[in-house]
Amino acid sequence: MLGLKLPTDPRWVNIVEKNIEEILTDHAYCEQKAASTAISLIVTHPEYSELVTAMTALAREEMGHFRMVHDRLLQRGLTLGRDRKDEYVIKLMTFFPKGGSRLSSLIHRLLYAALIEARSCERFRLLSENLEDRELAEFYRSLMVSEANHYTMFLNFARQYGDRKEVDQKWQDLLKFEAEIMKDLGKSETMHG
Ligand SMILES: [Fe+2]
Ligand SMILES: [Fe+2]
Repeated sequence: MLGLKLPTDPRWVNIVEKNIEEILTDHAYCEQKAASTAISLIVTHPEYSELVTAMTALAREEMGHFRMVHDRLLQRGLTLGRDRKDEYVIKLMTFFPKGGSRLSSLIHRLLYAALIEARSCERFRLLSENLEDRELAEFYRSLMVSEANHYTMFLNFARQYGDRKEVDQKWQDLLKFEAEIMKDLGKSETMHG
């Protein structure tokens, strides 16, 4: 349903489980970046009123997720670490050429966001099904549902504002590119690593 072309090796969860502080810190910043992206889309494309309304709600929701992840760090006697680079996202965002019209840059950003939500959703599902820590597993199950909705929302906005056929083609091409990136990943205790 997420359209992803390469599933994550479930053994990734075994790596993650060994370093809960690391995965929670990395995850917290994923939520912060999702909120920042929502705010940034409002600033760069204010004339898309429906998008602005949705991004306002999304920024709040993602910061709510940030708070929940941070609370779980504190509950475990851990501290949020420093932000780290998300190599997956950095690589992914090289796919579409820079520049172009404001509309095409909007479409590209919406597609990147849809894909990052889809992959996060897949990773949350793996965590929810395989983590020994049942409280954390349950937490990831609830977040998985939110991220699936965000994936659909971003993809729908791209289809609504862009040419449907062109957007669908770009989406398929991006999915293929993402699968190539994923071949080297699934080996570290980060949300997209
Ligand atoms: Fe989130
Ligand atoms: Fe999200």
